[in-house]
Amino acid sequence: MEGEPVNVNEFQELARQALPKIYYDYYSGGAEDEYTLKQNVEAFQGITIRPRILVDISRIDLSTTVLGYKISAPILIAPSAKHKWAHPEGEVATARAAAACDTIMILSYRSTCTIEEVASSCNAVRFFQCYVYKRRDISANLVQRAERCGYKAIVLTVDSPRLGRREKDIKNKMVNPQLKNFEGLVSTQVSTDDGSNIEAFDANTAFDASLSWKDIGWLRSITNLPVLLKGVLTHEDAIKAVEVGVDGIVVSNHGARQLDYVPPSISVLEEVVGAVKGKVPVLFDGGIRGGTDVFKALALGAQAVLIGRPAVYGLAAKGEYGVKRVIEMLRDELELTMALSGCPTLNHISRKHVRTKHERPRSML
Ligand SMILES: Cc1cc2nc3c(=O)[nH]c(=O)nc-3n(C[C@H](O)[C@H](O)[C@H](O)COP(=O)(O)O)c2cc1C
Repeated sequence: MEGEPVNVNEFQELARQALPKIYYDYYSGGAEDEYTLKQNVEAFQGITIRPRILVDISRIDLSTTVLGYKISAPILIAPSAKHKWAHPEGEVATARAAAACDTIMILSYRSTCTIEEVASSCNAVRFFQCYVYKRRDISANLVQRAERCGYKAIVLTVDSPRLGRREKDIKNKMVNPQLKNFEGLVSTQVSTDDGSNIEAFDANTAFDASLSWKDIGWLRSITNLPVLLKGVLTHEDAIKAVEVGVDGIVVSNHGARQLDYVPPSISVLEEVVGAVKGKVPVLFDGGIRGGTDVFKALALGAQAVLIGRPAVYGLAAKGEYGVKRVIEMLRDELELTMALSGCPTLNHISRKHVRTKHERPRSML
């Protein structure tokens, strides 16, 4: 590829060239047949935009707030694990890029830089993503460290009572690195027969598979931070989430890395938004690769979107600068989409600005 990448897909190609296959497969792959992985992106193509003409778009404002924190555009960094596999500076580089773009990074529980390192690397607003492990003391330790370090919300990922089956990682014999957040809490290293080290605290067995709705109360009892649930895909669960008093919902299928053959997340966004009835903010992730995708998610009711792989591809291709470029690119593409569809602010983007595959044109209704 010649010159600077002009879209997220070109960043993906650069990442593919930059990374050892095992790492690229880890970032780009999904669960089992990767049906949902493909659908997550393709489903956006079934949604068309209904632009309005002759609207004054001489000034476009993309800024918004999430949980009261102002950000420059409705594009946040999703939590994704092990950024040091993409770049030696890891999550610190990602956090600095998010800060430079005035947006929020959600740090993964399974990061390769510690909660403290990321916190001291820049002043941006940060949220912390949490899994609940059988060893609740470990989860509590991480959540409370995040709170002490000034992270502003806990994003509890609820689609992972076990880890999904990612066939590429199995084939590549991928071994998790030591995760520094757990140092001193558990033995993070064991030796195998061939002398190599593997993570003793294996993610597959560490998750608390008994986690259920009542445990939201447990999380509340160990932190004063707002709690968002990430991984909601049905109106039934959205209603329960509001009932148990969460502060926000992330519609997500974990980038198609958990259960294959769940619907592409964009196809269930409206169902969840309808059930939530504006009581808490609804964020969205899965398959965002361009500004038109962001626009479509906002039109279907998301307050903001998260990007997972696009940020990692930027990081792998060009470090902190690459993550910054990816965010800026999506922001610029969204700005242009708003201009060309007659939406000077995010509040102007409405359900009537998109048509989904199964809707008939209005004149036929
Ligand atoms: C390499 C990778 C690692 C991830 N690790 C986590 C994680 O540690 N915690 C979590 O809640 N989600 C994790 N996710 C899911 C993302 O937060 C997000 O839901 C998903 O990437 C969004 O889809 P996209 O990659 O198409 O943007 C991960 C995703 C990827 C690609």
